[in-house]
Amino acid sequence: MLIKPIKKSINKKIEVPSDKSITHRALILSSIADGKSTIFNPLECYDTHNTLKCMEKLGARVDMGDKKIIVNGVKTWRSCSLDVGNSGTTIRLLAGLLSGFRGEKFILDGDESIRRRPMQRVIEPLELMGAVMKSNATKAPISIEGQALKGIDYSLKIPSAQVKSALLLAGLNASGKTTIQEPTLSRNHSELMLRAFGADIERVHDTIKLNPSVLKSTNINICGDISSVAFFLVLCACLKNSCLKIKNVGVNSTRTGIIEVMKRSGAKINFSNQKNDNGEVCADIEIESSELKPFHIVPSEVPLLIDEIPILCVLACFIEGVSIVEGCGELKHKESNRLSAIVEELKKLGANIEISGTMSDTIRINGQKTLKGGQKVLSNSDHRIAMSLAVALTLSNDGGEILGSGCVGVSYSNFFETLKVVSE
Ligand code: S3P
Repeated sequence: MLIKPIKKSINKKIEVPSDKSITHRALILSSIADGKSTIFNPLECYDTHNTLKCMEKLGARVDMGDKKIIVNGVKTWRSCSLDVGNSGTTIRLLAGLLSGFRGEKFILDGDESIRRRPMQRVIEPLELMGAVMKSNATKAPISIEGQALKGIDYSLKIPSAQVKSALLLAGLNASGKTTIQEPTLSRNHSELMLRAFGADIERVHDTIKLNPSVLKSTNINICGDISSVAFFLVLCACLKNSCLKIKNVGVNSTRTGIIEVMKRSGAKINFSNQKNDNGEVCADIEIESSELKPFHIVPSEVPLLIDEIPILCVLACFIEGVSIVEGCGELKHKESNRLSAIVEELKKLGANIEISGTMSDTIRINGQKTLKGGQKVLSNSDHRIAMSLAVALTLSNDGGEILGSGCVGVSYSNFFETLKVVSE
């Protein structure tokens, strides 16, 4: 995909696709709930399509409507092999859920990227609950023999919403209470939605307590994805005299780390028309470009903006001075090694960016307020790297080309169309 540089200011209103994390959870929870649930405004992309296909294969009845999906919960689970494609959320959450389906056998597998990603983080605590699983040296494919599980008291070793959610889904069918301690806060969509589906779940300080529960069907309304909005917030922030309005975006405080960082840096961002839907807060967002200063992200903030770090690295290139993202080693285990991918590709465009720290988990960007561009860059088959590079090239002096840009469909099918509308 060829990307032309933008040479003017922008003033636009845009809509962004619905939230990916929340859509995955809505599809999974409605499939195990008793009765018929309607999901309004689900995200349609490769990742959520894969979750939907998995739930259908397991026995859920799904009817597609106009901007809605009606799901009839599964009555009898079917042993089967499931393909999650590129979706880490699908494989990890389903590993937890399926471990507790006693007497049934499942295989979970996905694409090349999924087969490289660490699964021990879910296997280890699930085995403590009594799960019986085999893996390819801790990687996918994972085969599962469903068991009667028991609740455990577990402290998360990695601040991961996917691991937390896998344990909560396993805990639904386990005997006794499942208690999860979360030393560093991560996105809480599973906890909020489990409660909406009637689960017996509570949070006390940093601990989540879940009693085995039968879920009851409900309707879920899904708002825009802040992780997709992020690309356009950064684009607008780096253009002079520009303004962008985005309607109906999820602003759950476990997801708005990027807003906090940009505001600290001097960005003018406002929320209006806030609504609360089963604990998920939505708002219209408006950003006006302003003079920005370098930012420093500390490790405890990382889970609250984990998917936005590549685009924040692009932002840092357009701020004069040194910005730092500390303790982001988890990026090595995403759809690609996002830590090396973003650093290597931005270097090709002229960025002064490097990996540092004794654990090689810190990114240091010496921003020059400009990127030269004029090069071919690689998406690494990773949707968020492709979109971050598209914004970098749009802001660069000479533009350039992204090789392997089709992967944006993993989360944002019409990203390039929206980028074109915004840049016109
Ligand atoms: C997700 C959690 C995050 C995030 C991923 C989606 C989720 O992963 O990077 O894109 O929906 O729970 P981790 O929980 O593994 O950090």
